[in-house]
Amino acid sequence: MIINDAVFVQSSKDHETCPSADKAEFVFIGRSNVGKSSLINYLLNRKSLALVSSTPGKTQMINHFLINKQWYLVDMPGYGYAKRSKKLRSKWEKTQAEYLQKRKNLVCAFVLMDINVSPMDSDMMMLDQLAEWNVPAAVVFTKSDKLKKVPLERSIQAYEEMILENWEALPPIFISSASKKIGADMILNFIKDNIDIYSRYQKNR
Ligand code: GTP
Ligand code: MG
Repeated sequence: MIINDAVFVQSSKDHETCPSADKAEFVFIGRSNVGKSSLINYLLNRKSLALVSSTPGKTQMINHFLINKQWYLVDMPGYGYAKRSKKLRSKWEKTQAEYLQKRKNLVCAFVLMDINVSPMDSDMMMLDQLAEWNVPAAVVFTKSDKLKKVPLERSIQAYEEMILENWEALPPIFISSASKKIGADMILNFIKDNIDIYSRYQKNR
């Protein structure tokens, strides 16, 4: 898929104030600092459409982007902020949970995981939650440029083994680097295929 058009639509504080659910929607979620905004800017081939922050947790709203006038890309606030108060954290968790469960046009949630660090419980819990809520999930490993081939393969294997502890089969998995521009084609093709399926399904309803 070629990105001809990418515009920021709005930041919403909860699912109720999001744009109307009339287009296929793909959300990018992951722990704070995992590289969500960088990946989104790379996917869309825009320098700073999604806010890239060096301060963890700066992305605090549900951010909608309209792509090719056809589908929504959503940049979600990260989960698992160590530095924020418990009260704020649980508020975000509730906002995120409601959005993921109630957003009718949500086609797939991309769960970003930093391939340079060991698998985290919070990542695995997010995958389990999505399964429980019947939200199709895919995993995107980020910052793959930081590892050489062998450690990279080892790390991917560790993640896959961890996922398979709870899952019968692996979800779709993508390996990416925003810095070295790796992985966009695969992710964008996956999105395109899913938009086609979504459109056919909408027509037949
Ligand atoms: P929050 O919005 O704060 O939750 O962070 P985020 O998940 O949007 O992460 P962001 O894109 O802001 O990137 C966090 C840090 O990781 C920044 O310092 C980026 O420069 C760095 N980073 C992001 N992607 C890559 C990558 O592919 N490779 C490398 N080496 N660093 C990256
Ligand atoms: Mg961000």
